[in-house]
Amino acid sequence: MSKPRKTIKKPLKVLFAASEAYPLIKTGGLGDVAHSLPNALAHVGLDVRLVLPAYRDVLRRVEDLQVLGWIPLGDGLDARILQGWHAAFEMPLWLVDIAHLFDREGNPYQGPDGNNWPDNPQRFTRFSQAVALLAADRLDAGWQADVVHANDWQTGLVPAWLHETATPPRCIYTIHNLAYDGQFDYATFQAMHLPPAWWSIDGAEFHGNLSPMKAGLIYSDWITTVSPTYAREIQTPEYGYGYADILRHQQHKLRGILNGIDTRTWDPTTDRHIAAHYRCDDQLAQGKAANRRALLKALGAPTKAQRADAPVIGFVGRLVHQKGIDLLFDAIPALLRNTLVRFAIIGSGEQQYEERLKALMAQYPARVFGYLGYSEALAHQLEAGADIFAMPSRYEPCGLNQMYSLRYGTPPVARRTGGLADTVVDSTPTTLKDGSATGFLFDAPESAALEAALRRALVLHQNPTLWHQIQCAGMAQDLDWDERARSYLALYQGAPTAEGEQQ
Ligand code: ADP
Ligand code: GLC
Repeated sequence: MSKPRKTIKKPLKVLFAASEAYPLIKTGGLGDVAHSLPNALAHVGLDVRLVLPAYRDVLRRVEDLQVLGWIPLGDGLDARILQGWHAAFEMPLWLVDIAHLFDREGNPYQGPDGNNWPDNPQRFTRFSQAVALLAADRLDAGWQADVVHANDWQTGLVPAWLHETATPPRCIYTIHNLAYDGQFDYATFQAMHLPPAWWSIDGAEFHGNLSPMKAGLIYSDWITTVSPTYAREIQTPEYGYGYADILRHQQHKLRGILNGIDTRTWDPTTDRHIAAHYRCDDQLAQGKAANRRALLKALGAPTKAQRADAPVIGFVGRLVHQKGIDLLFDAIPALLRNTLVRFAIIGSGEQQYEERLKALMAQYPARVFGYLGYSEALAHQLEAGADIFAMPSRYEPCGLNQMYSLRYGTPPVARRTGGLADTVVDSTPTTLKDGSATGFLFDAPESAALEAALRRALVLHQNPTLWHQIQCAGMAQDLDWDERARSYLALYQGAPTAEGEQQ
């Protein structure tokens, strides 16, 4: 009798597609996730490739570039596929190089005028097509994906393109923000000679346009979004941006998996950007105080603005309607009238909000400090130096900053929505007593509700024992990606294949 052969289980091959990834190129939380999640997936033993458009900034930062080959996309267009490496990633990076679409300076989605690049439909349709063909090993490189993981509208057409291939791998589509869906019109659809079947109510047609977001929802095997609460919210008209009915219809394949954070990049005991390292011990208050002084100095605050007994309320984020920044601006004058509080605000975005921030800084030069722009270092310094973090988002699929705040002992004051509701435990008599309180939540998307929650936080801030307890409960929270990566793994393994069987 022959010996039974050991079966060697090959790791699943996952092609992870995104339109940005920190530290190569980042505009928001998607960039953070597209860095940490592929790394976490590699840690749990998967064979991962991260594929990105070959933007100029990415080409500058990636090392050991080599050409893997060319993939024809039709109409005489070829995508050159590059492979490169970067110290922040544990896997090879694949870049889709179509020079006239991606080799340009600046923001991946918008031109210098702040408007979307007019050729975004072509850019991300072709990127998605190349991703699907890479997954099918059209390069003949001997690497065929078992699973493709696409993220947000920029890669929404990946599952649609996979649908056009003979034996499509499983496809997971993650919604990071339903409000941005990348629609384009029929003339553009026709000019690109896209598969006519997509233009259907059961396909990717959406109110007379083509919606890459809808394509992601319809053609994927699983839809995930970045928190359980947001997964429920987007099935309602209020948060569904026109997609609530479709999502309710696709409910059987919709899951909410909470994001994690990169606990190595965001660690107050080692962070290279901050003035003093600290942990949850009896030196916590001193550590925070040193960082508060450094933050105010970095933001140009006059020395007289520095008062040890004046707490700092911080904000970092895109200055857009979603983030409820106007609610914070509205609450500032009243809070300044009868508290000692200072505000530190870092962000960039819509002009109206940038103007408003400048006006507040001019009106209260010793109380409101800000930085208009994008600064990784300042974002870290703010998490460490602020006492309270304000996140009054109107909606928040997950949100990363409240998790950074928890880890940095900076209790968040947040609206009870999406991932904020799933990661922050409101301070109530019960949660303070059982030690689970980590921050403050409010419901109405109104400045009065935010102001009341900030006042609740300021009152508790005066009680060093309770405040220390709230800070440490947040700092001890498990925010790592490891467990969450396992949830994705379960989905990769259990997602129905093209034939519909369950594994
Ligand atoms: P969103 O993706 O909706 O913008 P998240 O909270 O998920 O919100 O992630 C935002 C990310 O972008 C965080 O890493 C945050 O620190 C960063 N960020 C946003 N604005 C700025 C800024 N002006 N400077 C530095 N980092 C910023
Ligand atoms: C989006 C969402 C944000 C989320 C991020 C990463 O940008 O607005 O809430 O944290 O994606 O998933």
